[in-house]
Formats: sequence, C-alpha cells, structure tokens
Amino acid sequence: MGARYLTLNDKLYDYVLAHSLREHPAQAALREATRTHRAAGMQIAPEQGQLMAMLVKLMGARRAIEIGVFTGYSALAVALALPEDGRLLACNISDETTRIGRPFWQQAGVAHKIDLQLRPALQTLEARLAAGEAGQYDFAFIDADKTSYDAYFERCLQLVRPGGLVVIDNTLWSGAVAQGPGKDADTRALQALNAKLHGDERIDLVVLPFSDGVTLARRR
Ligand SMILES: C[S@@+](CC[C@H](N)C(=O)[O-])C[C@H]1O[C@@H](n2cnc3c(N)ncnc32)[C@H](O)[C@@H]1O
Repeated sequence: MGARYLTLNDKLYDYVLAHSLREHPAQAALREATRTHRAAGMQIAPEQGQLMAMLVKLMGARRAIEIGVFTGYSALAVALALPEDGRLLACNISDETTRIGRPFWQQAGVAHKIDLQLRPALQTLEARLAAGEAGQYDFAFIDADKTSYDAYFERCLQLVRPGGLVVIDNTLWSGAVAQGPGKDADTRALQALNAKLHGDERIDLVVLPFSDGVTLARRR
C-alpha cells in the first residue's frame, strides 16, 4: 500500500503554489510588506488564506470573527471572500502590526467590511456575547496566543450558529504536539485542546495536516 500522506518538500510546495495560488494584488503586496517584519513567520501561508476564502464562500458566510490579525493577511483573505454586506469582527491586542495591513484592506476595497477591535480578544468576545450575539456568526478563525485557544474556542462556539465553522490555526505546532509531554505552555495548551476536541460531541471535526495544522470544528 502506498503512503497515505505526502511529505512536502520545497519543489512540491512550489508546484502547489504555482498551480493553485490566486491572490488579489493587495494580498501579494501585503505579504511583501510583511516579509521583512521580525515576526513575519506569524502570517498564515497564502494557500491557507485561499482555503479559508473557499470555506467562507462555500458556507455563504456573512458574519465572521478573527482572533489574531497581525498585519492583516488572513483578515484580507476572509474579507475578500465575504459578500459586499458581510462583516468581519477582527480582534487584535494592539494596532502595532494592524496598521501595516490597513492600507492593503483599503487597496482591496474591503476595509468597510472589517470591524477591527484593538484590545484583548476575550474582552471583545465576552462583550459580543453580552450583547446577545450568540449564534449570529457563520465563521471564526482563531490564530492568537495559544494558551487562550480553549477560551477563544468556547466563546466562538457560542457565537457561531449551528452549522457554523470554527477554524483553529497551528494545532500541530511544527509537530511538537506529537512529541510526548509538551515542553512549554503553548504546546501543552494545544495538546489539551486537540484531545478535548477529539471527544467533543458538540462539533464535527477535521484536523488538516496543512500549513502548521489547521483544525476545522463545525458546530452541530
Ligand atoms: C499568529 S499572529 C496572527 C497572524 C494573522 N492571522 C495573519 O494571517 O497574519 C497572532 C496575533 O495575535 C495577537 N494577539 C496576541 N494575544 C492577543 C490577545 N490576547 N488578544 C488579541 N490579539 C492577540 C498578536 O498581536 C498577533 O497579531
């Protein structure tokens, strides 16, 4: 029997990009503007943005949440996929990096779809729940501080409607989650979340060995 999975190498990865990537010029420009940032590695890969855009379109999502904006690439990918009256609640702790991305949201003509909330994401999510917005969202993407992922997941699961999707980034954490007891708090948090989600009857679950591990949790 052949292998049940492919091991990527640079050649195959370049092939995938060359045969699938379709970026808006503003997305390519934002990646370029982020390339030399000291934390550039935090940005999602472009093919992941394309996957999320596909999911948003397949679902016909209108209201989305993002936790962890950095310079705004994933927000841009989702906002481009939302309909003209769609809205993305984008949560980031400060504007230090989001201000790099905002001109590219303008360039792409989607800035009006993005409601950027600059404070700890838990505060924003709690406020939206307190405002009665449970079940009002279609799609959520979690990509911020790993030790808060479980708290973000629980809030997002309340905020999305039944049939809504919570996408969680970095759930394989460069493979560290499978290397025995976690050596640091981030790895342990991701291991605990992965174990919890596997047994969570509230969701349908897929863990994609794609990028750094992308978990899809659909609210039942
Ligand atoms: C991995 S980066 C996000 C990358 C982004 N999704 C992209 O595609 O470029 C994580 C972001 O989460 C933000 N962050 C960290 N802790 C946070 C918190 N408690 N609340 C909101 N944002 C937080 C960081 O400032 C950083 O911008």
